[in-house]
Amino acid sequence: PQTPPRDLRGRPLRDLRLSLIEACNFRCPYCMPADRIAEDHGLDASARLSFDEIETLVRGFVRLGVSKLRLTGGEPLLRKRLPELVARLAAIPGLDDLALTTNGALLAPQAQALRAAGLGRLTVSLDALEPELFRALSGGRGRLQDVLAGIAAAQAAGFAPLKLNCVVQRGVNDGQVLPLVAFARAHGHVVRFIEYMDVGTCNGWERARVVPSAELRDRIHARWPLRPLDPHYRGEVAARYACVDGGGEIGFVSSVSAPFCGDCHRARVSADGKLYTCLFAGSGSDLRPALRQGEAALVQRVAALWRGREDRYSEIRNQASTPRQHVEMYLVGG
Ligand code: GTP
Ligand code: 5AD
Ligand code: SF4
Ligand code: SF4
Repeated sequence: PQTPPRDLRGRPLRDLRLSLIEACNFRCPYCMPADRIAEDHGLDASARLSFDEIETLVRGFVRLGVSKLRLTGGEPLLRKRLPELVARLAAIPGLDDLALTTNGALLAPQAQALRAAGLGRLTVSLDALEPELFRALSGGRGRLQDVLAGIAAAQAAGFAPLKLNCVVQRGVNDGQVLPLVAFARAHGHVVRFIEYMDVGTCNGWERARVVPSAELRDRIHARWPLRPLDPHYRGEVAARYACVDGGGEIGFVSSVSAPFCGDCHRARVSADGKLYTCLFAGSGSDLRPALRQGEAALVQRVAALWRGREDRYSEIRNQASTPRQHVEMYLVGG
């Protein structure tokens, strides 16, 4: 049997984020700005890994130490026959945690089937509770009411607690933070505030638009006093807090103000089967040739790539020599 690989910084591989599709029905300006990404952007369906390939891939990653799988996109609910795939993945021994991140617009009609298929956890992106602002933040594509219906349907289907992700941008939606906390508290959801990141190359990132998590935490604390919670596991992405009055949990993802590369156990695979060892990697490694030879070859290939990994972009983003060419967010699902 394969010894679980460690990378050049001693980090094991525990977590896989697998993009099922590179297309999205939204055009969030921080990810796929509408003026930069064509309407019909995307691969031919045949360029995406098939369900058989995905199952072999995931089985291989589990042999290398992965126990946590997050399905992403683009927008993963655009992938046809998704519940069928979820059921196949949920049956893989050793995979303890199967989760999915979605923009929620197509969730209402699918939530029940995803739950029945064995999906364990669901995260929905929600950047605003004000309908016009929400629409703008989806690039004019999304309707808040559809996402709220999706969230309600997911909760009714048994996804609880649900996680809500809000990417905060100063001067854009920082006024939505307290309303989002109030909404999450009222419905029993966990809300997480994500620092706006310089992912990809087309979102025109500016540091001035990042709201450091400490500032948000203070602002929330002044309204609903908070106390820190222990992480669920080593290397958890979000720092967790509880409202002291018992009314809910809040998380902060602080990749800009407090990088967490030291415990980064995550690999990302794009819908066309490329491995990215960092969210900010400039390029990926094609796993398909190995995948075609079967699980054993895939395992060898990924182990070798992981052993050569030394990424820690968030820790070195301020250095002048740090590369600025990054994979686009919608190819690796965040
Ligand atoms: P849990 O399994 O519930 O802990 O989910 P998660 O927080 O890993 O997943 P989610 O998809 O909700 O990600 C939240 C935010 O954190 C997204 O904006 C991701 O892009 C970001 N994120 C996740 N992993 C990493 C990482 O390794 N590095 C950086 N810089 N950001 C990450
Ligand atoms: N900075 C921070 N988070 C981002 N996401 C997409 N683009 C960015 C960015 N530039 C988030 C999405 C989703 C998660 C998977 O990644 O909003 O919640
Ligand atoms: Fe689509 Fe998510 Fe990117 Fe928004 S952040 S454009 S919903 S993939
Ligand atoms: Fe991991 Fe790269 Fe994010 Fe650092 S920047 S935590 S190495 S994905």
